[in-house]
Amino acid sequence: MKIRRILLAVVLALAGLAGFAAPSAATAAHTVTYNKYSLMLDGRRILVQAAEFHYFRLPSPDLWRDILQKEKAAGFNAISVYFSWAFHSPAPGQYDFTGVRDVDRLLRMAEETGLWVIARPGPYINAETSGGGFPAWLKTVPGRARSSDAGYTAAYHDWLAHINPIIARHQVTRGGSVLLYNVENEYAVNTDAVYMQDLQDTARAGGIDVPITTNDCCDAGSWSSTWGSGPGAVQIPGVDDYPQSFECQNASTTWGPWGAGVTERVRDDAPVFAAEYQAGSIDLNNAGYEACRDLTGVQYTKFFQKGNMVLSGATGFNYYMGFGGTNWGWIGQPNDVYTSYDYGAAIDESRQLTDKYFEFKRQGYFLQAVPPLTKTDPSTAPVAAGLETAARTNPDTGTQFVLVRNGSTEAVSSTLAWNGYSLPVTLPGHDAKVLVGGFDLGGQRLVASTSELLTTAFINRDVAVFYGAEGTPGTTVLRYSNAPTVKVLSGTVSSSYSNGNLRLDYTHSGLARVLISGGGHRPMLLLLGTDDTAGSFWRADTAGGPVLVRGTSLLRSASVSHGSIALQADTSAPGAVEVFGNGRDLTVNGRPISTRTSPSGSLEGNLPGPRAISLPALDGWKQAAEAPEAQPRFDDSRWTVAGKTSSLSTFQPLTQPVLFSDEYGYHAGSVWYRGRFTATGSETTVSLNAITGKRGDYLVWLNGRYLGSAAGGVQADSDVPANPSPGAGKFTIPAGLLPAGKPAVLSVLVQNMGNNDDWTAEDSRFRQPRGLVGAAVDGVPAISWKIQGRARVDPVRGGLNNGGLFGERAGWSLPGYRDGSWPSATFAVPAGVTWLRDDFTVDLPRGQDTSVTLRFGDAIPQGYRTIIYLNGWMLGQYGAAIGPQTSFVLPAGVLRQNGRNTLALAVIAEQPATVTPPQLAVAGSQRGGVPVRDVAS
Ligand code: GAL
Repeated sequence: MKIRRILLAVVLALAGLAGFAAPSAATAAHTVTYNKYSLMLDGRRILVQAAEFHYFRLPSPDLWRDILQKEKAAGFNAISVYFSWAFHSPAPGQYDFTGVRDVDRLLRMAEETGLWVIARPGPYINAETSGGGFPAWLKTVPGRARSSDAGYTAAYHDWLAHINPIIARHQVTRGGSVLLYNVENEYAVNTDAVYMQDLQDTARAGGIDVPITTNDCCDAGSWSSTWGSGPGAVQIPGVDDYPQSFECQNASTTWGPWGAGVTERVRDDAPVFAAEYQAGSIDLNNAGYEACRDLTGVQYTKFFQKGNMVLSGATGFNYYMGFGGTNWGWIGQPNDVYTSYDYGAAIDESRQLTDKYFEFKRQGYFLQAVPPLTKTDPSTAPVAAGLETAARTNPDTGTQFVLVRNGSTEAVSSTLAWNGYSLPVTLPGHDAKVLVGGFDLGGQRLVASTSELLTTAFINRDVAVFYGAEGTPGTTVLRYSNAPTVKVLSGTVSSSYSNGNLRLDYTHSGLARVLISGGGHRPMLLLLGTDDTAGSFWRADTAGGPVLVRGTSLLRSASVSHGSIALQADTSAPGAVEVFGNGRDLTVNGRPISTRTSPSGSLEGNLPGPRAISLPALDGWKQAAEAPEAQPRFDDSRWTVAGKTSSLSTFQPLTQPVLFSDEYGYHAGSVWYRGRFTATGSETTVSLNAITGKRGDYLVWLNGRYLGSAAGGVQADSDVPANPSPGAGKFTIPAGLLPAGKPAVLSVLVQNMGNNDDWTAEDSRFRQPRGLVGAAVDGVPAISWKIQGRARVDPVRGGLNNGGLFGERAGWSLPGYRDGSWPSATFAVPAGVTWLRDDFTVDLPRGQDTSVTLRFGDAIPQGYRTIIYLNGWMLGQYGAAIGPQTSFVLPAGVLRQNGRNTLALAVIAEQPATVTPPQLAVAGSQRGGVPVRDVAS
């Protein structure tokens, strides 16, 4: 990626609260407009705080709701969603929007959850998906992809004709959730303005009437002012920023190698939009996603995101990724990712909340609390020696937003000279604050604070939560017309009043509580916390007023009516709960909770934690070997004849005929080849080449004798220096194997990985073949070939779930397959393909969200790879050649939580091996959760 970006740079050089209330199911139609500062909904300024979510990476639609609720609970008011053409279209003209592809349901869920949607239907999406979202069949359609060429245009028109109507009917302009429509993706080289314009014209003709945006990668201002209003220019240009790069192995030493991460303004008549802002990373170097979460951890999230908030003036943010998910089936692009797309995101692949989630929550709540941030101009910043400062001011309200940042790794203590005050301030290393001054906070007037504002609500009186790093000093100054009464309910806070200003000084520690009354304003409860205590607050806005909750591990939703507060919440341990809300009674998940009223006016009670989980041992494995295709007498009469002599790939076949699997309609996973020739008896060597994409391999048999294996090639990716002989393997023919004058059969199993992306809009990358690209036996003039791949499109799992292994074709991966005659597993496998199957029953506690994983040994074996199917769903690949992953998420729903399940493992061994079987493990369990139905299997 990095190399690509540098190359690209060279190429280019040469050439609120109430404020941001979200949609709800019953909302009416709205208008969306914008100007330099922000988007406006019905004329009211909004700030968009979005988390990127890929439904296609979570094959259990009920869990989409879990993720959406978690994003909402962190203060996000939007999700950004790529729609993957490849995921919906297994063949030209065939589209599927049912089951795990039911994006209409996804958009409805977003509405129900109260989240706006930035819809990104591509057609090109990148996203480390196979083909960058292009269906593999597009490789055989003439016309350069991502251009206005006729063949490509006809193909993408068909996709947009299917996806646009779904998006259109969910626009905010029709009472739905879709707020922005994103065309293309980082379209910066080999561009074609006619195409870019046609995408927009097609959208408009298809009923899209929300503003159109695009995400630009390369600071070139593409499709914005550079192009003016010329063909292809979008209304709201977005910019992608990945300041931390993708070298997760360098997590501890990396700090902004790709720049300051300040989203550029590229057009004066539209708001600054951070279309993709780094919030995690792909794991290019197999460091593991915990390293990626470190690379983009809490300090990064504070330093860069808060910096961007003030320095850029952006009022639209989308964090990539909010939740990454899983490259199940063959949806992943092979070069940059393996099965897990955890991404080091704030919500991990097993749907658990990480430390970073709580930093997002602190920032998200703040953004909702300060509507004046939707309209600001740069202003003179107060100074603090040793610290970086910057400021913006709202020209209408005078509200100031002051960035204070510490770029060093050590804590810095200084004095901030601000609004006539000298305020002590300490920032830990790589920390940042956005401070607010001159702000009407409920019925109060905030003059200045060195504590950050988390949230503010009217709950019988004004309640405001401020916070700062544990042990650092804090000062908050509020204006009154006469001296108010200050009552410190808990913690240590000193106060003084002079000239109309009340000054509170304290050290951030735990949660101090201060009640202020009189002074000409309505009463206020000030809660002064630390990062941790502030992060423990949850907020929900209900028709009966706002609710603040502490002590649950998540707040999904709340309602307040007739003096009763009802929460839907998760708990990860038993413990105390505190609720600030307009009610006297409390129910949590439908259960009444006995409470008392605290001196702070909140309700206090206790909540039960989750019940204990017991998972069955996986100890009933059965085993069967396959690969009959390797045997000379195997009946391949119904296989496809591979006889083409040309293809649209820029890669020329090394021998004839063309054996590229896509040419014969086999687009995902394994393919088998059988080549026939008449032997002379003097042949010595089989020479093969296969391009599989990174991490692939192939196995070779001659007349039923296993000859060995080789790694598949990746050549024709512009990152890789030209290699005329990709994925080469030479195999010695044992003496006597080929009797003279007798027919011989060469059998080759190629493990194709996904397809390359098309990031640079070059057909060479995207049309790179998969499968054999060269095959010769010395002295043999011609081999006649047949090919076999995936049997059919799985009616529920789709076209990317299965490849063409014998067992996949015969249903060995499916739960209904009768394996009664299979012997108990010995786990000793020969070279070739062996299947292991185990049925097991789980009975997880109901009303509890348990995330189960399949865990293999940490020492990843060499020499074989394992493809994992749970109830027929291909959920991952394990092996040293694949990546560092040892734990595989089994999503609830695909995993029947109260019932019988079938695991099938296809072990593809390059040499005889002994397999260590995996076990089930719990990644997290909380009382609560969302109802999850079984996914059709
Ligand atoms: C961006 C791209 C995304 C994704 C990301 C890296 O450049 O727009 O689709 O590929 O990089 O994860």
